[in-house]
Amino acid sequence: MPRLSLQNATAPIRLMRRAGALGVVARGQPRFPGRQPIRFSHSHGSPKWRPVSVLDEWVAKEARPISLRQLMVFGRSLTEARLISSANYVRTELPTRIAHRIRDMQRLPYVVVTNSHVNEVYDLYYNAFDTFRKIREIKTLEDNDQLCKTIRFTLKAHLTVIPKLAMGILECSGLMEAKELDRFMNTILKSRISRRVIAEQHLALTDTFHAPWFSPGAKLSETEFIGEIFLKCIAKDVVERCGEEIRDIARRAYGPDVAIPQIKIDGHLDASFPYILSHLEYIIGELLRNSVQAVVEKHEHRKDKDANPSRPPPPIEVTICESSQHVIIRISDQGGGVPHGSLPYMWSFSKGPASGQLLANLGQVPKLAATMQELQSEDDREGVNAEASKPFQPSSHGNSLASLSSRPPNLRLGMGLPLSRVYAEYWAGSLALHSLEGYGVDAFLQISKLGNKNEQLTTRATMDA
Ligand code: COI
Repeated sequence: MPRLSLQNATAPIRLMRRAGALGVVARGQPRFPGRQPIRFSHSHGSPKWRPVSVLDEWVAKEARPISLRQLMVFGRSLTEARLISSANYVRTELPTRIAHRIRDMQRLPYVVVTNSHVNEVYDLYYNAFDTFRKIREIKTLEDNDQLCKTIRFTLKAHLTVIPKLAMGILECSGLMEAKELDRFMNTILKSRISRRVIAEQHLALTDTFHAPWFSPGAKLSETEFIGEIFLKCIAKDVVERCGEEIRDIARRAYGPDVAIPQIKIDGHLDASFPYILSHLEYIIGELLRNSVQAVVEKHEHRKDKDANPSRPPPPIEVTICESSQHVIIRISDQGGGVPHGSLPYMWSFSKGPASGQLLANLGQVPKLAATMQELQSEDDREGVNAEASKPFQPSSHGNSLASLSSRPPNLRLGMGLPLSRVYAEYWAGSLALHSLEGYGVDAFLQISKLGNKNEQLTTRATMDA
């Protein structure tokens, strides 16, 4: 497969211009306005000259992962100096993390990176990279306010990234090995979550710092949230809230004549841990939605006159188990299990169960809301440019269930399961499914409950399993 490379003489002007802006155009190729000056370095032992671009410089930097605990400790006793230090972390970390993903995209086969949706994501990422890398050291609160404006603008401009990636990846399935496409998606999505976490956390800390009630240096240990981190996420409460919301969606989707299964919760009902609530709600919401849908469709218990009211659909059973390091949430349904033929694609972004349906509905792809910025109302999402000039609306903690109900129940990206696993793994957890064909599914979500594990930015080899 041809790749975007210095040797690719047939690259269209658009890509050549982009390559020029990134400083990777070889000598002899036409120069384009606005391009970075190219410096050439000689790599030892190699007879070839290698261009050194701005991007290369940033790709050479390592991301500096953080843990929930670090974020909590940092935000717990907030001072101006800490806020400025957080600003500088975000200022350098965002372009570093984006640079790595731009490089990944450059390594995609040429036909994939030139797909219009993938290409639009590339442009968004390149613009964001170029904007953030140029921001000078933050020294004052005024500098920080400017930085926050840029972050808000970018967060909103990037709301379209997931639908674009979803469409691009489906259009490109077949042009590249599914395993490679999935690996690419896993990494790019994990990285996106990570960037949004550090960006949103900084915005939240800045909001706290400017709040009328806030006094610098005062300990915030009594509050429920430090920035975006919910200090005491009670697993049972989250399952209950998501369960109610999903059952409501199902009632609306299937109509009043269809019996919706109950959701029963048992086990360690007090288990709690620090977490980003919207991440947990996304995962639990997806798992429960799958279970409810499977049970309803398998049992089709109708509440009309022919139905036998003594036989409601079997409940979905959720067991919460707390150990010294983890909280494990098992969701068991009797929805018939995953058909054997679909098992290999269960975790695939490009060959997932709803991919055919999505391709038929490309015009109306819903957003995948999973971070606070993505949870604002539908109106808010209209017109990113107009939106960007509006003042920032602080995140509505505990209101993130809006993300579940704002998606049409009959239209799905088919990415819920693999994306849930990306979320679970991001905070060093895991998500596994065991299917008992003909009977049901057990989903196991394991959460690292101490918050002391760093974000997991790389894609594990087990991803293919
Ligand atoms: C994204 O949402 O894709 C981002 O990278 C956002 C970040 C640059 C603030």
